[in-house]
Amino acid sequence: MNEQDNQDVLSSHKSKWDALAKENDRYYVRSVDHVQSDEEYEESGQKHADGYLVNDPTIQKRLAPLSDRTLLEIGCGSGRITKTFAKRFKYVAALDISRTMLEKARGFVDSDNVIYLESNGEDVPLLPESVDVAFSFIVYQHFPNKASIEHSFKQVNRALKPGGLFKVQIRGIANPNPNHWAWGPHFLETEVAELALSTGFKIISSIGAGTQYYWLLLEK
Ligand SMILES: C[S@@+](CC[C@H](N)C(=O)[O-])C[C@H]1O[C@@H](n2cnc3c(N)ncnc32)[C@H](O)[C@@H]1O
Repeated sequence: MNEQDNQDVLSSHKSKWDALAKENDRYYVRSVDHVQSDEEYEESGQKHADGYLVNDPTIQKRLAPLSDRTLLEIGCGSGRITKTFAKRFKYVAALDISRTMLEKARGFVDSDNVIYLESNGEDVPLLPESVDVAFSFIVYQHFPNKASIEHSFKQVNRALKPGGLFKVQIRGIANPNPNHWAWGPHFLETEVAELALSTGFKIISSIGAGTQYYWLLLEK
């Protein structure tokens, strides 16, 4: 794809996610109910923040105390998980493609150790080697194509300090309907090895190949 076509794809992806955020941010972040209270939204985010990242034994072993660390969250949505991360980490850089999601996150999280970054859908506007750890859940499964995922992984790699860790969920099974709002590319195990290699990462562990929740723990 040439550069202009790529920019057009990213720009329509941004418009799509901003429209979804305006329609009902919480539903398109956590598609269980059209109405979700603050308490239930925060509780679900806490479960995911602690369960997937904070209590991960490798994260604890390598990075404790987390209260001294800086986290980059790719695809923070309206702050569901970010709210707990803000309590666990020293600083959080919360990035999303949708400005409306970010505005809602700012109101919901309400912490002064979080900065919000609006992305073009693949770049990470941070200084090189400025974060200790990066995290992403139910985000790359919605990217428009594999090239933008690869570009984003390279940008995350650039932002991480040497030896930094990236805990990331990707889709390991096809969503059969390309017209569904939640459609996104999926990866086979062999493709994941190539993705890690081409973006500057070593795979420390992977779990869930062949399922929607294919988790990778990567090291720069
Ligand atoms: C299903 S929501 C998940 C939000 C959050 N990770 C959570 O679990 O609460 C997906 C989020 O990814 C964002 N997103 C989609 N494509 C993106 C991209 N290419 N770059 C950055 N964010 C993106 C959307 O705007 C949306 O906020």
